[in-house]
Amino acid sequence: MRILVTGGAGFIGSHLVRRLLANEQDHVVNLDALRYSGNLENLADVAGHPHYHFVHGDIGDAPTVEKVFKEHQAEAVINCAAETHVDRSILDPGGFARTDVLGTAVLLEQARKAGVTRFLQVSTDEVYGSVVRGHSKEDDPLAPRSPYSASKAGGDLLVLSYWSTYRLPVLITRGSNTYGPNQYPEKFIPLCITNAIDDEPLPLYGDGRYRRDWLSVFDHCAAIEHVLRHGEPGNIYNIGGGHELENLSVAEGILKHLGKPRSLIRFVQDRPGHDRRYAVDCSRLRALGCTPTVSFEEGLRATVDWYRSHEGWWRRIKSGEFRTYYQQMYGKRLREGTAG
Ligand code: TYD
Repeated sequence: MRILVTGGAGFIGSHLVRRLLANEQDHVVNLDALRYSGNLENLADVAGHPHYHFVHGDIGDAPTVEKVFKEHQAEAVINCAAETHVDRSILDPGGFARTDVLGTAVLLEQARKAGVTRFLQVSTDEVYGSVVRGHSKEDDPLAPRSPYSASKAGGDLLVLSYWSTYRLPVLITRGSNTYGPNQYPEKFIPLCITNAIDDEPLPLYGDGRYRRDWLSVFDHCAAIEHVLRHGEPGNIYNIGGGHELENLSVAEGILKHLGKPRSLIRFVQDRPGHDRRYAVDCSRLRALGCTPTVSFEEGLRATVDWYRSHEGWWRRIKSGEFRTYYQQMYGKRLREGTAG
């Protein structure tokens, strides 16, 4: 298949591009705007692959997207391009609406004109909102509560409208909290790992008892590929890791792997509108023949090892734009935080 992956220089996108290129019959075009978290270093090992092509551009730029479809004859699209960090969406909600809603709208329209046979939207379990008990099913009502999740929900609804209106063969995956190598260190797990390596405090929002279901990026990408090949058009598929944990125990696990003291934990001012818990029911994906294989213990250890052995990768990030962001997000919080 000739597959257009958008946002392929990002965290999940880069793992997905590499995974698809491992299939001899697939060709991959990566369209990425290379904004703050897009990083071609993530794909340095496949840059010269004969079936891989990189295009620098934005999914919201119709002429660029149209040209990519014309030149590369993509038959399938996997849309990984997105603004994804809740805390940044609180600082700049408009940027999230632009990429995650309007960008998706442009990409969908160009995909329809090009007549693709598959359009897979990589979404998130956050569109269901906070789930106090039980597990979200794909047909549950959407109740997003952050500008990020609201923008993703808007994108999902547009994607579904292209199925009901135009019969564009769309698919949506809603993954749970994903972790693994190459994740930008603004997210909880890589932030904790890299801070702990440097003996810096680990900031836990609120009481640290918020719950997330952790999914290895390798299992997430395997599921996306499975849905692309076997999913039923018009359908949504939840992807969970099956490892629901409180943030505090994730932080403690990281400290244990690194042999660092628990005193690095700091309870800091909470995130506004912080969703208490996400949890998804994955029976639809299971029925399609796909289940996660990586245990959290094993996945976290491998992730910690990756950050330990790739200090150049994250130190370059942490010494750039990230410093201003970190100061803005954590400066006051950490000054006022309390020890764990
Ligand atoms: P995050 O990685 O931002 O993912 P999401 O908010 O999309 O679930 O955060 C995961 C959890 O960790 C979430 O409950 C917020 C919490 N968290 C902290 O306690 N401290 C932090 O510095 C960050 C970034 C997150």
